[in-house]
Amino acid sequence: MYGLAKAWLFRKDAEQAHELTLNLLSRYARTPLAMFWRQKVTPKPVKVMGITFPNPIGLAAGLDKNAECIEAFAQMGFGFIEVGTVTPRPQEGNPKPRLFRIPEKEAIINRMGFNNKGVDYLVEQVKNTKFNGVLGINIGKNKDTPEERAVEDYVYCMRKVYPYASYITVNISSPNTPGLRAFQHGEALDKLLSALKREQAALTTKHGRYVPVAVKIAPDLTDEELQAMARALVKHEIDAVIATNTTLSRDAVAGLPHAKEAGGLSGAVLFEDSTRIVRKLSGLLDGAVPIIAAGGVDSHAAAKAKLAAGASLVQIYSGFIYKGPKLIADIVNRL
Ligand SMILES: Cc1cc2nc3c(=O)[nH]c(=O)nc-3n(C[C@H](O)[C@H](O)[C@H](O)COP(=O)(O)O)c2cc1C
Repeated sequence: MYGLAKAWLFRKDAEQAHELTLNLLSRYARTPLAMFWRQKVTPKPVKVMGITFPNPIGLAAGLDKNAECIEAFAQMGFGFIEVGTVTPRPQEGNPKPRLFRIPEKEAIINRMGFNNKGVDYLVEQVKNTKFNGVLGINIGKNKDTPEERAVEDYVYCMRKVYPYASYITVNISSPNTPGLRAFQHGEALDKLLSALKREQAALTTKHGRYVPVAVKIAPDLTDEELQAMARALVKHEIDAVIATNTTLSRDAVAGLPHAKEAGGLSGAVLFEDSTRIVRKLSGLLDGAVPIIAAGGVDSHAAAKAKLAAGASLVQIYSGFIYKGPKLIADIVNRL
């Protein structure tokens, strides 16, 4: 079934196909049409960050930025769903076109730039859903917020989403918001994590519930940067790390159409680099902080390799675009 839909969708502009699909999923999740994507997967419960996940395969951030399709993605069998990245205020994102397929390598380049309807809209969507599974909410900063005030954007979003999230992801690794990746280093990282842990403690008291905080990192960190990141994650008692976001590298797609488009590269070509980061982090963290792997998972073997490298959970995005919902069942049922 997905083969047919994909043949039709892949003839369209990538972002138009994305919007059409999300529209369909949000509109028809509560109708009999959901039979086209609903599937049963074998329960494979796993406990991470104090949360019991029905299975370890989740939807990565960026596909459902505004939390409009949570129920449909749950019907497909994902063990958890991460929505966002969301920013305090709505924003348009970068000029179009900004999303490109590289089908020869089952890759994607995007420079969306956190196009989203703002945190209040996202919270409304979450409030209206019947979904009661594991929901991650991924937060970021508005493009026009100056870097010296970025921490306020993260804290603002954290306060807004806290009562509705199973866990909160702090995105400091998108390559498409100028200056964002600087928060992965040194004093900027230290200040951000301190502020967020302080806020998390205050919100735990206020709401009577501890919501774990995960930090999402880039695959382009050097060994020294990764060591410093691991130290910061442990020092600040961060609850999980998501490795990784998209890469700036183009080595794996050099010479192919769209390879020179600016933005982050994802998909099968990211698998090796992001898995190497998971393996190294696993050695550095030695179990102190659980790892959620993302990057190039497009098969059961790829998911297993992430777990073998030290991940406790796995997220997929590009593999889902190329393989469809069947990928979830293929992975989960054979774990
Ligand atoms: C079109 C697109 C948009 C994305 N948007 C976000 C985002 O808003 N926030 C985020 O943390 N990651 C975002 N990502 C990164 C994915 O969540 C994931 O980390 C990355 O694509 C690697 O996984 P994959 O190879 O399975 O796609 C985006 C990826 C793509 C392809």
